[in-house]
Amino acid sequence: LRRVRVHLGARSYPIRIAPGLLGRVGEETRTLSRASHAFLLSDANVHALYGPAVERSLRKARFRVTTFTIPPGERSKSLASLRRVYDAFVEAGAERGTLFLALGGGVVGDLAGFAAATWHRGAPVVQLPTSLLAQVDSSVGGKTGVNLPAGKNLIGAFHQPAAVLIDTTCLATLPAREYAAGLGEVVKYGMIRDRRLFRLLEERAGAVARRDPSLLGRLVAHCCRIKAEYVAADERDLRGRRAHLNYGHTFGHAVETATAYGRYLHGEAVALGMIAAETISRRLGRTTAGDGGRLLRLLETLSLPTGGVRRAPEELLPLLWRDKKAREGRLRIVLTKGIGSASVSESVSRPLLLRGLREICGSSRSGRA
Ligand SMILES: NC(=O)c1ccc[n+]([C@@H]2O[C@H](COP(=O)([O-])OP(=O)(O)OC[C@H]3O[C@@H](n4cnc5c(N)ncnc54)[C@H](O)[C@@H]3O)[C@@H](O)[C@H]2O)c1
Ligand SMILES: [Zn+2]
Repeated sequence: LRRVRVHLGARSYPIRIAPGLLGRVGEETRTLSRASHAFLLSDANVHALYGPAVERSLRKARFRVTTFTIPPGERSKSLASLRRVYDAFVEAGAERGTLFLALGGGVVGDLAGFAAATWHRGAPVVQLPTSLLAQVDSSVGGKTGVNLPAGKNLIGAFHQPAAVLIDTTCLATLPAREYAAGLGEVVKYGMIRDRRLFRLLEERAGAVARRDPSLLGRLVAHCCRIKAEYVAADERDLRGRRAHLNYGHTFGHAVETATAYGRYLHGEAVALGMIAAETISRRLGRTTAGDGGRLLRLLETLSLPTGGVRRAPEELLPLLWRDKKAREGRLRIVLTKGIGSASVSESVSRPLLLRGLREICGSSRSGRA
């Protein structure tokens, strides 16, 4: 069992990471909650795989259990499905003291977290993340919400979970592309904060590909520790500190928008975004060609895209300003200084932005430098 604590005063909470933890959810949450009623939200894929074991464990710990499942996929992070979730709460007789549990990827976590945040003005939620992205990123930090047709995550609240329980064995059933996309975020943590994590990925690439549970426990714990540190320093994303987590994301979001969220998974777009950012860091003399080469090779080893977006860089350029993190028209680009340290720049020139975009737009990897 690995433990990480998110230090937020009265809102502090534990992250526990262990193989097989989903079968012990009941006893683990009993130590945190005296609730009699547990409401489990999941998606149909994840529930079919892990729902019954979690329910059994909760019942064994003397919870009355209600389950509600949503269809898998981003479209379930909507006001319409939120409404259905509230209706299910009412039908199940949920109260303020009901313990909510989110079993699934980031979609379930964000939706269940927001539903709990707004139910009776705030009810406790335990996150049980099952995708790699959710385990290393979305389940920690308290950002919850749903999408509007006008944009992603436009409705939301900060609502820290009561606990995060991570079972790394369940990553075995994650589709290969989803797994690789989650690794994109893991690489990001290495780039901005932890060169040892980056090296661990390089050296244990085979075990990473095999999804070795004990190595995954180490990797996930590394990432949670880093995320927890940023969250503790800047819970509401106001001080610019949490902005480092946006490394690769300004470019990545532009790629996602230009391809209408159809071609790349988020973590894949982040991989492309890191290549663009790294190109700029190198041009500014902050990193070496060697670091850039290591990033490129690692992403390729992990089956992540590093180029070939096949869009004109000039088409992507204006999309950079649509990023939520652009304040009053000023772009804030996260750059690295070598592997393992990051800073924000508000003065990257347009030609340099285009240079970064050109790196990922072409289909060929030649002509770098
Ligand atoms: N709150 C935050 O801080 C934060 C951070 C990053 C991303 N997000 C959000 O997270 C969402 C994306 O999360 P995601 O990538 O986990 O997507 P997801 O929740 O849609 O899960 C991806 C797919 O994998 C399936 N799946 C999940 N775990 C599985 C398992 N163990 N075995 C088999 N299949 C499994 C799901 O059913 C789904 O089809 C986005 O909505 C994004 O906005 C939130
Ligand atoms: Zn991300």
